[in-house]
Amino acid sequence: MRSSGGVAVSSELAVQCSGVTKRFGAQAILDAVDLTIRGGSFLSVIGPSGCGKTTLLRVIAGLADIDGGEVLVHDERLRGPSRRCAVVFQNYGLFPWKSLYNNVAFGLVVQGESKAAVREKTEYFIDLVGLRGHEHKFPYEVSGGMQQRAGLARAFAVSPEVLLMDEPFAAVDAQTRESLHAELLRIWEHHRCSVLFVTHSIEEAIVLSDDIVVMSANPGRVLARFTVPLPRPRREEEIVNEPAFTSLRREIWSLLHHRDRGGSPGASDLAALASNAGEGDRP
Ligand SMILES: Nc1ncnc2c1ncn2[C@@H]1O[C@H](COP(=O)(O)OP(=O)(O)OP(=O)(O)O)[C@@H](O)[C@H]1O
Ligand SMILES: [Mg+2]
Repeated sequence: MRSSGGVAVSSELAVQCSGVTKRFGAQAILDAVDLTIRGGSFLSVIGPSGCGKTTLLRVIAGLADIDGGEVLVHDERLRGPSRRCAVVFQNYGLFPWKSLYNNVAFGLVVQGESKAAVREKTEYFIDLVGLRGHEHKFPYEVSGGMQQRAGLARAFAVSPEVLLMDEPFAAVDAQTRESLHAELLRIWEHHRCSVLFVTHSIEEAIVLSDDIVVMSANPGRVLARFTVPLPRPRREEEIVNEPAFTSLRREIWSLLHHRDRGGSPGASDLAALASNAGEGDRP
């Protein structure tokens, strides 16, 4: 059982993908994908390069059409981008011509919040992610880690019901990544929303998630779903040595390896998976 951090966690389904099929031209990218995210839970999707993770995230964000199946966000059928969802991308997605402050404020301004509310929420989230003193700098003036902190602040500031994150920490160094994991979990414990987190790192998925979905490629399908049997709050440096952590890591790794030997995904896909996952992901 996980701790809710004092926040009421809904048990309803935040996202339901049923039989989602997506083609680009003649090529099937997603093939009858079923995936659910429990309200207030953190789900990671892992799989080889090209298996359709980003495509699936874009579908749930309402940014891409589907060719078959259905996507419900809190029981509502998707009709384009929804204010219920916020997205954090790998390349930070910040506006380079806006200060970090104005990047964080952006979504609130678009939502039509009053000037006072924009100021209050922006200040709060600038503090929460530790950007105080840097808020008037522009993205090119700060590190990747600080840019991604601004990305997190911008996403949480609009109080999304569903937060979609596409390899948000892939471009930062291992140490910064670890501190961003802690930041993300801390903010999420207090501003609980449902999260879909795309990653190539098995370790990252286990550290952060309640549930992990493993995909295979060509076409993209759900191979397996795991529940992470580790209590919260979690401290990364402590849980990585726990037997439950190492056995789940081994299980997911073998699943992906087994698919490799079976011819799908290809060896190059797994090489990409391995290089992105980092040394620590090998059992
Ligand atoms: N707009 C597009 N037009 C045509 N093909 C596309 C388009 N977007 C994605 N694809 C193809 O769909 C497949 C899945 O792409 P996607 O980006 O979803 O994979 P991914 O799992 O996110 O990969 P990675 O781990 O490398 O980010 C790939 O073969 C890709 O080339
Ligand atoms: Mg991708």
